[in-house]
Amino acid sequence: MARIVLTGGAGFIGTHIIVEAITQSHEVLVIDNFVNSSPKALDAVKKIVGQDFEFLDADLCDEGKIKHVFEKFKPDFVIHLAGLKAVGESVEKPILYYEQNILSTLSILKAMDNCGCKVIIFSSSATVYGEPQYLPLDESHSFGPTNPYGKSKLFIEEILKDWAKADASAKAICLRYFNPVGAHASGLIGEDPQDIPNNLFPYVAQVASGKREFLSVFGNDYDTPDGTGVRDYIHVCDLAEAHIAAVENSQNIEGWDAINLGTENGCSVLEIKDAYKRMSNRDIPYKIMPRREGDVGSCWSTSAKAKTLLGWEAKRDLEDMCSSSWKFQSKHPNGYDDN
Ligand code: UD1
Repeated sequence: MARIVLTGGAGFIGTHIIVEAITQSHEVLVIDNFVNSSPKALDAVKKIVGQDFEFLDADLCDEGKIKHVFEKFKPDFVIHLAGLKAVGESVEKPILYYEQNILSTLSILKAMDNCGCKVIIFSSSATVYGEPQYLPLDESHSFGPTNPYGKSKLFIEEILKDWAKADASAKAICLRYFNPVGAHASGLIGEDPQDIPNNLFPYVAQVASGKREFLSVFGNDYDTPDGTGVRDYIHVCDLAEAHIAAVENSQNIEGWDAINLGTENGCSVLEIKDAYKRMSNRDIPYKIMPRREGDVGSCWSTSAKAKTLLGWEAKRDLEDMCSSSWKFQSKHPNGYDDN
């Protein structure tokens, strides 16, 4: 049993990690300030796991408070997910993104140093690679994030590298997510964007439920089998399991390391639309639109390193991703605040 602080625990990925951590008998302290999430998500988690857990409503940049709660909880591990993540907004408000994402990480590292916590698992992103030079992407691919959100992930990885270098017993595990989608099988927790969804899956879910009229397909002239963008979609429950695998196999990591989390499979926008249509039994009207600025044609991952170091690989397929997403969407047509 490990004691885990989970930052950003009320979000899409965080809620699924709490479920997995508690199911595997770990003790969690969740920290969130609901800037981009709802307290109702945590109520739903409690319903799934049938028990309560420790929670703190706090801004991670509040160093004094964070230091104090770490001293009290004495974590063995920190899973750090909290952060701003809207690509477009990060271009408009770069300083906000750097300030929030980087200062919160520094505050956590200080609190860890103060209480002797040696392992941090960081929520990074495949976006650090930028335009793929070859596929599948592996962890030694060159970097080239194209926006402040992606750069903040890369900068934090570098900070963690230096932090881990300075202490022989410290470990920093950067998990580079590909495209997390889907929902818990109960349909009680899932992705609940506060605004118009930027990402494909939540947008398709809202078209299926009738909340949005049609899907805009951003470009059908990419060099892919059907011309639409190809991505490596990974089920959020697989992703959650990878974090707990990182906790349980941290002895395999030396100092700092980065590990891709994907499925080794690419799916196109039209394939997603068709699968979602099948699993939801709803019509999904769509229109072909121009390419979205900054998008690449194809992106998918190798999972070799995750398999070797974490003993983890993705188990769930595209049908699971669509059917679970639909279960959450149909139970919560207007998100958590609906009921
Ligand atoms: C996006 C972010 C990335 C972030 C990731 C998190 C951008 C440019 N990149 O990646 O930094 O880490 O989400 O999951 O925002 N699409 C449509 N119509 C839509 C929405 C998307 O056709 O309404 C297409 C896109 O062109 C792309 C695919 O669907 O081909 C996936 O898009 P999305 O879900 O936004 O993910 P990424 O662009 O891969």
